[in-house]
Amino acid sequence: MTDQKKQPEMHKGLVGVYVDDSKISEITEQTSSLTYRGYAVQDLAENCRFEEVAYLLWNGELPTNNQLAEFEHEERSLRSIDDNLMNVLKSIDKNAHPMDVLRTAVSFIGTQDPNWSDETPEGEMKKSLNMMAKMPTIIATHMRLRKGLEPIAPRDDLTFSENFFNMAFDKIPEPEVAKAFDVTMMLYAEHSFNVSTFTARTITSSLSDVYSAVSGAIGSLKGRLHGGANEAVMHIMDEIGEPENAQAWIDDAIKNKKVVMGFGHAVYKHGDSRVPTLKAHFNNVAKIKGGEKLVKIAKILEDTMLREKNIKPNVDYPIGPLYRMMEFDNDMFTPMFAMARIVGWTSHVMEQRSNNKLIRPLCTYGGEAERKVANSKSHKKIGF
Ligand code: COA
Repeated sequence: MTDQKKQPEMHKGLVGVYVDDSKISEITEQTSSLTYRGYAVQDLAENCRFEEVAYLLWNGELPTNNQLAEFEHEERSLRSIDDNLMNVLKSIDKNAHPMDVLRTAVSFIGTQDPNWSDETPEGEMKKSLNMMAKMPTIIATHMRLRKGLEPIAPRDDLTFSENFFNMAFDKIPEPEVAKAFDVTMMLYAEHSFNVSTFTARTITSSLSDVYSAVSGAIGSLKGRLHGGANEAVMHIMDEIGEPENAQAWIDDAIKNKKVVMGFGHAVYKHGDSRVPTLKAHFNNVAKIKGGEKLVKIAKILEDTMLREKNIKPNVDYPIGPLYRMMEFDNDMFTPMFAMARIVGWTSHVMEQRSNNKLIRPLCTYGGEAERKVANSKSHKKIGF
């Protein structure tokens, strides 16, 4: 007898499904554009600093000079980590992936916060700022500890991006390099209902706390189909090594239907809104840092993917080699993405909480029909 049950319409991966309304950012696929609270990201990247973009995403408006001064004062006052968290970082295996370290550290900060369950907008904002301020310190401290170097304390006279460089390398780079880094922070800060943000919203929808939502989002971002792509791009470029190997590598990848990291996007089908701005900074930093080899490899891969597959690079493609030229280790790239995306995640946590509905989709069942233990051939009753 055939099963007469009507199969519901399936939306695997929730592709094409609208699940909520958001006022935080808008992606327009047809024009490959992205706005944060109504401002084009290119406009923000050119005219603002990361701190202003964070304020905008959280509050809906760009700050006045006084508001920015107050916001920065508070952010800078929260940058230090205490001895207990330092001991956690020291106790983690040196070979642990920095994303796992970051996830553990954020979770630990949650255990230190007596107000972890405060769900008021002011309480959520305070916790979000606390994470934004401490994540660079955690990432730079772990980087130095695993290299056997002394951690460098955060400074309150430096911007978010300059301070991160100083904590990592004990120096502040050329202004063009610091600006390029700050642009990556602004362009990584928010991107609508991507996997990690949706993870944060899903966790929040059960009325869990913001530290849990962010810990889950960090786990989600780690995957190489999402944030992990920036690290994966650099592995490809390292494997290629020299520009003269690039054409053969990409021809082989296409012939063997390999997924080439840093290309394609789940939403943008005509190009990623963030890539032109990033490419300009990538080329500029390459001139300062002597990264022409990476520029040549990147161009060969990009031209070939476009010609043969009509697939364009995404945000992670220029950022991987850009972070390499800035001398960060490959496995730090995704934590650095998280350092910016914390703002988007927490903006969405606050938005979800303000108008919550438990996220609970359905699935069809394709397993065994109902059966009895007594009829099972493998099961022997052992009793208590
Ligand atoms: N390399 C090779 N082929 C790719 C590709 C890539 N990076 N991205 C997409 N394609 C192919 C798909 O396999 C598909 O081929 P098919 O029609 O023969 O099945 C076709 O292009 C269309 O794919 P599309 O539906 O546009 O992509 P998607 O929504 O299924 O996947 C990603 C989106 C991001 C998961 C995918 O592009 C990918 O895996 N990219 C690499 C990882 C990455 O850079 N992630 C960071 C995203 S910001």
